[in-house]
Amino acid sequence: MSTEIDDTAAVATPPQKFTALSRTFHWLTAILIFAALLIGFTMVNWLAGYATLRVIHMSIGALILLVVVLRIVNRFRHHPPAWPPTVGRLEGKAVIWSERALYALMLAQPLVGWAMVSASGTPVRVFGVLRLPPIAPFNIHVFSVLREAHSILAYALVVVIAAHVSFVLAHSTVLGDGMLRRMTFHIGRRERSKR
Ligand code: HEM
Ligand code: HEM
Repeated sequence: MSTEIDDTAAVATPPQKFTALSRTFHWLTAILIFAALLIGFTMVNWLAGYATLRVIHMSIGALILLVVVLRIVNRFRHHPPAWPPTVGRLEGKAVIWSERALYALMLAQPLVGWAMVSASGTPVRVFGVLRLPPIAPFNIHVFSVLREAHSILAYALVVVIAAHVSFVLAHSTVLGDGMLRRMTFHIGRRERSKR
């Protein structure tokens, strides 16, 4: 009987990881979105800081748009690793749709923000170096519809992110199936020994 370690079996054993680039995109977008949400909700409730936070918020929002487009291109080029067997069929469908919803919201929200500012007739300045062209007509009615949409999408993001994080944490802590490790940069013992 052979005592050699079977490399194929080791590679096929879940949990497998997302590529380093996919993980970088995931955590970069997560940090930027948390920041945009926090600054957005703060600035509309804090008049004294509104002007400064608005500039920072628009810059982060524009950066999110760029990063999310790159992330979506990367997503089409790299398929995610298979889920652990603890993810059931119905649950899998819910996860797929919630992740699609996250991609759609991450893309729609900065576009709506940009269009809303365009409709208000003010320029979108990004980190003080770039001025984005308007993408919607200067019109009060268009502005008010987009302003409402920007709020609704922000709350939708909060709800879907909360469901997403709960799903991941429930799997990782209650079922202990390593769901979170697929997206982290933690180097496990097996991977370290392979180097
Ligand atoms: C703004 C916050 C977040 C957003 C927008 C977000 C978005 C996403 C998206 C779109 C995916 C699907 C990746 C793909 O298949 O291409 C994903 C996967 C994942 N996320 Fe997040 N995420 C966020 C926060 C978090 C946090 C805080 C955690 C940790 C608890 C986390 C853990 C994971 C894990 C483990 C996966 C892989 C799950 C799977 O394969 O289905 N995410 N995330
Ligand atoms: C994913 C990206 C973004 C997120 C998560 C986000 C989130 C938010 C949130 C939570 C608010 C407060 C909403 C409320 O309480 O009613 C807000 C307001 C606002 N956002 Fe964004 N936003 C994003 C992108 C953008 C972009 C790209 C722009 C413009 C270029 C923008 C411009 C604004 C402005 C001007 C306001 C304040 C509107 C007012 O004073 O009534 N946002 N955003």
